[in-house]
Amino acid sequence: MAVDGHTQLQTPTQGPQSPLLAFVLTLALFSLVSLLVLSPPTRLFRRIHRLASRPVARLLGRIPVPSALQAPTDLAVAIRSFSHYSSAQQNALSRKWVAFERMPRRHRALGTRVGWEKTLERAEEAVETNALVTDELAALGLEQARRDGVPVGLRSHFYHANGRVVETLKHFVRDWSEVGKAERDALFPPILEALREEFGKNVEGKKVLVPGCGLARLAYEIACEGFSVEANDFSHFMNLGSSLLFTRTHTTNQHTLAPYIHLFSHQRTAANLLRTVSFPDVVPRKDVDLRFCPGDFLGLCKEEEGRHEAVVTLFFIDTASNMISYFETIYHTLKPGGIWINLGPLLYYGNPGMELPLEDVIRLAEMVGFEVERRKSLRDVRYTADELGAFTYDCEFWVARKSATDAKEEARGQGEGKKEA
Ligand SMILES: C[S@@+](CC[C@H](N)C(=O)[O-])C[C@H]1O[C@@H](n2cnc3c(N)ncnc32)[C@H](O)[C@@H]1O
Repeated sequence: MAVDGHTQLQTPTQGPQSPLLAFVLTLALFSLVSLLVLSPPTRLFRRIHRLASRPVARLLGRIPVPSALQAPTDLAVAIRSFSHYSSAQQNALSRKWVAFERMPRRHRALGTRVGWEKTLERAEEAVETNALVTDELAALGLEQARRDGVPVGLRSHFYHANGRVVETLKHFVRDWSEVGKAERDALFPPILEALREEFGKNVEGKKVLVPGCGLARLAYEIACEGFSVEANDFSHFMNLGSSLLFTRTHTTNQHTLAPYIHLFSHQRTAANLLRTVSFPDVVPRKDVDLRFCPGDFLGLCKEEEGRHEAVVTLFFIDTASNMISYFETIYHTLKPGGIWINLGPLLYYGNPGMELPLEDVIRLAEMVGFEVERRKSLRDVRYTADELGAFTYDCEFWVARKSATDAKEEARGQGEGKKEA
């Protein structure tokens, strides 16, 4: 084979004249590439990397993703993931069994004495408790897919998002259980207070948009104050969760979850790991003015300008791939003089266009046309956390106002004036 290869290189029009020369050149090229890849001459390599990264990013950013490579619909992924939850979790537990079986017999005996096997068995049972809820969510999803003609095709078989299922389960606890009250009590009152201060008793017909509402407890509480609320989220994981709560739940504590079994770390006792939580703590009232508007809020608010008296964002703005479009959309959908209430951290997701620090985020909001009237920092805020071993966030709360006269338009006008000058 090698001889054949060399023979080809020897053809007079294409290659070097002797097999030895061809061999030496190939070897030299191979060594150079290996050198660059394995131990790059760092300065040169870094310089090339830096020079190339902007043009390459510019190019990649403009190439559309062909539809064949795009992920299946979020609804299909949600249905698959909810119905696959039990086997995904049982697989995770099987790996723990295997790891345990690999330990020496004497150590396994000690493990048994402290109850490790019992804990794993009970965790397996707890998965089945959770699966009662996830199966119901999957069934709700299938109903919706049939109604809307959404294909739940073969491609979605490969898109199980078990992490998003677990997130949804934790949101049930945070938003709709007695256990989640402490978290809600740290976050909801400043927002509800700001709305009360702004509107007093004059709330009827006042439209409030809550984009990225998750399982919509805050949106529901705002509706209970008498506002006309639009709750929006584009995740079918969350929207199916809301459907379960708002259309299939008739008694308090109708559903039960073991929400902490997905993280064995930071647990004080096995009982703590395995404990269950029932929800909802309240059955949502039907007599409130709350409308669900699923979908991307950027698209939702495109059409009509100045529809809402207030926009409330909770743990939301850092989900943006482009924060400026979020701010412009909020500005666009607010009536002149309307308010934007925000509360949340800056925990950037994915790879957004910019990952700005807080003060620059505020400057950006002002550049878009908002006047930030009030700010407050909240420290050590918990979010869908187990009470033990929880991560905490530092959050910023603000109330910003769209000016009664559209400052953004004025600024644009000035900019154009300057250009013309
Ligand atoms: C971190 S969660 C917060 C959920 C809720 N606000 C809360 O505090 O529980 C962010 C939510 O925003 C939603 N989301 C992100 N980008 C969105 C968009 N462009 N349009 C609508 N919802 C979006 C996600 O699906 C997710 O439910």
